[in-house]
Amino acid sequence: MSFTQRHLLGIEPLHPAEITAILDLAEDYVALNRSGDKHSEVLKGLTQINMFFENSTRTQASFELAGKRLGADVMNMAMQTSSVKKGETLIDTALTLNAMHPDLLVVRHPHSGAVNLLAEKVNCAVLNAGDGKHEHPTQALLDALTIRRKKGRLHRLTVAICGDIAHSRVARSNLILLGKMENRVRLIGPPTLMPAGVAEFGCEVYDDMQKGLEGADVVMMLRLQKERMDGGFIPSEREYYHRYGLDAEKLAFAKDDAIVMHPGPMNRGVEIDGTIADDINRSVIQEQVEMGVAVRMAAMDLLARNLLAARAAQA
Ligand code: NCD
Repeated sequence: MSFTQRHLLGIEPLHPAEITAILDLAEDYVALNRSGDKHSEVLKGLTQINMFFENSTRTQASFELAGKRLGADVMNMAMQTSSVKKGETLIDTALTLNAMHPDLLVVRHPHSGAVNLLAEKVNCAVLNAGDGKHEHPTQALLDALTIRRKKGRLHRLTVAICGDIAHSRVARSNLILLGKMENRVRLIGPPTLMPAGVAEFGCEVYDDMQKGLEGADVVMMLRLQKERMDGGFIPSEREYYHRYGLDAEKLAFAKDDAIVMHPGPMNRGVEIDGTIADDINRSVIQEQVEMGVAVRMAAMDLLARNLLAARAAQA
């Protein structure tokens, strides 16, 4: 089998063939999700626990739906009211849950690296649903599936990722994935929102939307992650929108058939004009949400197969 991982902690450890394996299986789940009976039993008898230590709408809902459609027993831990608030450490919480024998643990955490640490302490498959500024692998995979379906391929494309790159795990996972699949990645944003050492990823960096968008096949907009900022990274939202907000005028610099993406949540009038976001001829934002469920089903299916095979080998 081409997918050999025990966990899905990031895009970094994945081989291109493993990325393709997830996307190919996700195609089957897109079809299932569009059919009358959306149920499968591939996770029957398995327990999935979702632990979100940070707010989420799309990611949490789609992981829950994905597990339920595959027949798993899904539990959502309400982390706001859990013992974490009483001072229990992440590791103690993980060990407590581990004693309940989960099979799949889906974790989102505000600290980079927290999910990797947790994966070392438990004996089930762990999926990273976003850790700090580090990685958000299922987001990059759902973006890749959306691009592959819209553009007919996932290589030799020019993809512009625009906005708050420095604080974005979505940007990081995407640029790693797109690089592995041999695309040209451009990062566009004010220098204050570019991470240090960005050159090592082999992408081009621009602080001007016109230059950066020229010839782009895909325009990916990012939210200003104000919760991760501790000072004045931008002069004002108005000024930011003027220079970096995607409107029809700036989109015209990209290719005529360029698609517009956004992982959500969107701030209309800050990083993107509402009319562009709603333009069904250009924006694929709703498709991204649809692909999210399918990609998460595929990832959990593949991890569960590896988990069950490892358990069988041990028995
Ligand atoms: C992103 C995240 O949480 O990293 N949202 C998401 O998962 N769709 C992006 C963001 O918060 O801006």
